[in-house]
Amino acid sequence: MLTRRQFSAGAAAVAAGAVLARASVRPSYARELGAPAKIGAGKLVAVRLVTAERPTALPCFGNHSLPMWSFTDGAWPPVIRLDLGDRLEATIENRLPRPDESTSIHWHGIRLPNDQDGVPYLVQAPVRPGESFRYSFAPPDTGTYFFHTHCNTVEQLGRGLEGILIIDGDTTEPYDADEVLFMRDWQVDRETGEFNPFFTLRGAGRAGTFGPVRSVNGAVNPEIRLPASGDCRLRLINADPTRIMQIGVEDADAAIVAIDGIAVPPFPLSRWSMGPAMRIDLVLRAPQPGRIARLVDHSTPDRVELAHFVGSGVARRNSSFDPAPLRAGRIAEPDLKAATRLNFVFQASEAGQLVATPDDGLGAPLGALCLSSRTFWTINSRAWPDRDHARLPPPLAVLDRGRSYVFALKNDSEFSHPIHIHGHSFKLLGSDKQNRPPHHTDTVLLLPHETAEVAFVADNPGDWMFHCHIIEHQETGMMSYLRVG
Ligand code: C2O
Ligand code: CU
Repeated sequence: MLTRRQFSAGAAAVAAGAVLARASVRPSYARELGAPAKIGAGKLVAVRLVTAERPTALPCFGNHSLPMWSFTDGAWPPVIRLDLGDRLEATIENRLPRPDESTSIHWHGIRLPNDQDGVPYLVQAPVRPGESFRYSFAPPDTGTYFFHTHCNTVEQLGRGLEGILIIDGDTTEPYDADEVLFMRDWQVDRETGEFNPFFTLRGAGRAGTFGPVRSVNGAVNPEIRLPASGDCRLRLINADPTRIMQIGVEDADAAIVAIDGIAVPPFPLSRWSMGPAMRIDLVLRAPQPGRIARLVDHSTPDRVELAHFVGSGVARRNSSFDPAPLRAGRIAEPDLKAATRLNFVFQASEAGQLVATPDDGLGAPLGALCLSSRTFWTINSRAWPDRDHARLPPPLAVLDRGRSYVFALKNDSEFSHPIHIHGHSFKLLGSDKQNRPPHHTDTVLLLPHETAEVAFVADNPGDWMFHCHIIEHQETGMMSYLRVG
């Protein structure tokens, strides 16, 4: 095993095979991925997103209406749907109710031009109340994505400023249904009908502050009707600011066909950990007419039923389950032999270690220390804790455009961290804790003390955020950016 010192030394070479189990292919189904989708001529899709406070009574709020912040007057969450090749022109108008509540939209996972990436100060001016900004880009990949604001994120996400972005064109044959499951908790007290605090020091120094109300598409354990015995595509999005879910399906066959938007050769779903911002596409063989299957989260001691599926109509298919694969992605293959290796270590700061000590240590030191400094987390010993990103540090690393990189991502802490890169998609090479098939991902879940290796081609110039997607960790230091020159 490598010692911590070796890892921290930037130049230390990590022998991949020695430490990490290579990502390997599991027994899977018969069919191979389709040819990559062709980028069409495309049309222009214009949308208007008005960030504002809208009292909303989502079904999961009980009988209460809460002052949600959202993008549209219509149903929550909003959905933007494009065909590959289309250009999205999204105009955001900021009508949030506080004079200093700036905003911006980040299109999570989309490999877009840097100035459309929606990070205030880093790539654009924050959109202040009364102002507007027009995003314009043509996503280069198909799949399941989402968007969210990137200012005061713990509160803006907490109050609902997020939506779904789907880019079509990746199927090889039609599925019998295509449903999005937008999974998140709410910091809501169902007795009083009020929001709880979105940020707590205790949560920020640990696994984050969990919302007590679990939901899928704004409802608690909704019933989702699917064509009986059909092969149904389910797009699962972990849209929660905090919770890492461990997803399973009961009483139905299900296969993972895409991860973070990009196709993988279908493999059976047993349990799959999804940190905040991570997505998977499933194909699920829907239950027989009138029968039920369940989507469950095993991350807590009592498994939680997130949604259930009812087979409706006459049975569609009686063949054995062999889900149709999607079309292969269009992401450049990194050159592993020529790649430059860089090490990144994710750790608690000294204050962070103090906050994370057992309860009886939580009294006096916290009050004295943490209110002056909200730096609980670091990347390579550096922290960038800033509620609105206004003070830019230098980049954590400068990458050569077009060069291949292997990143060793080492979690040297007691908590999990879903590590997200903007503007690129990593290829997972291996891990010393989890055995997963090779796949692309824009958000890598690192378990406590896990080291994972990822590779990618730094082919998108600009300044790209590189941060933990547990938003309370991000906002207390586990945030940085990489410059692709
Ligand atoms: Cu979805 Cu910088 O984040
Ligand atoms: Cu984290």
